[in-house]
Amino acid sequence: MNPVQLYQAALHEQLDQPLATATSLDSVFYTSPDVFAAEMEALSSRTWRVVAAAGQLSQPNSVHSLTMTGQPLVVTRAADGTIRCFHNVCKHRGVPLVTESATAIKAMRCPYHGWRYRLDGTLERASHFNGIGDHRVCNTGLSSLDLDDIRCATWNGLVFANAGGEAPPLTATMQALDTRWHEYDFTQFEYGGDLHYRLAGNWKLVVENFLDSYHNPFVHPALNKASSWKAHYPIVEPDYFGVGSNVYQSDVAGHGGLPILTGLSPAGQRRAEYLCVTPTLMLGLHADYLFVLTIDPIDAQTTDEHVYFFFVGADKDDPKVKSARRNVLENWDRINREDIPVVEGMQVCRNASPYGTSVFSPFHEGPMHAFQRQVAQLMANRKPKPRQASVDHAIHELVGSEA
Ligand code: FES
Ligand SMILES: [Fe+2]
Repeated sequence: MNPVQLYQAALHEQLDQPLATATSLDSVFYTSPDVFAAEMEALSSRTWRVVAAAGQLSQPNSVHSLTMTGQPLVVTRAADGTIRCFHNVCKHRGVPLVTESATAIKAMRCPYHGWRYRLDGTLERASHFNGIGDHRVCNTGLSSLDLDDIRCATWNGLVFANAGGEAPPLTATMQALDTRWHEYDFTQFEYGGDLHYRLAGNWKLVVENFLDSYHNPFVHPALNKASSWKAHYPIVEPDYFGVGSNVYQSDVAGHGGLPILTGLSPAGQRRAEYLCVTPTLMLGLHADYLFVLTIDPIDAQTTDEHVYFFFVGADKDDPKVKSARRNVLENWDRINREDIPVVEGMQVCRNASPYGTSVFSPFHEGPMHAFQRQVAQLMANRKPKPRQASVDHAIHELVGSEA
């Protein structure tokens, strides 16, 4: 079977079953280069992926280079503030045009033969194209050599790209989350740093680990003490899934003193939610900060993970606030590093023959089931179907009985 057929079979035989009887994706989905290649084609053509925090390009005339599954990309902010995304490939001999992020630049100059491109991607000048013996630069007649642009959009301080151009509008992708989190005024958040990791594990294992509170007491004892798994509730909706808590306290979590969003209800001030929206986009929202975790799959067994942090902008020069911001990054860095051996261990075991598929905990692993189903639906070329109300109802009953 080809990868699409494999996913169609997994949907039909395993993931479309109710949570209590569904079984998880087999090891082949975590190890096969063919499955990986098909997944990357689908993610690139039909989903939005984060390419930068807009705060990384806060100044006009700035550029930010990156790779996405090995593809060189560049995000630009022009003098008028417009953000664009391009393939970071010089149209002459094809070398990466921008090798490092920069601000206050008027144009992107290729390091190989000096062709210059404006920040809107148009070729500005190339020398020695006027005929033999003519050494002038040329700025006309080369428009077919402008940079290839990529569909690009922004949402609450994040820059997204959809290289294949087939995803629904970004506003539609984020609409359900906007509705859920309408109480939170994201305009009060400002970019406040990032963390990066490379793991020897398939990208789906990283997402599944994010969605899993089940392991917290065993892998993250300090986190579990501050935010007990018993106070977590699963969230499974057609357009997002994850876990939440209604007892979030910043001082207990180790970073008290951060200003919180104004306008939040008392319940909103105690709420923390960790949700996956697209297969590579996860967000953790609190009254005082937001983190955005994005996945960049490198190959079937290697994944880059990027975490962007956003804090309420008020009082940012106060030493206590600076210290609390540092604590947030340090705490999450510790938690993320605690997860790496587990994710890498799962990859080792998926390469070993005894492991195939397994069951889902009805209490803890509904969001993981929803994620595997989301990926399988994307791969099987099927529009997501709303979950049965009875399944969600059963989950909430279970939560109520355990909490
Ligand atoms: S490769 Fe860029 S100018 Fe030649
Ligand atoms: Fe974890």
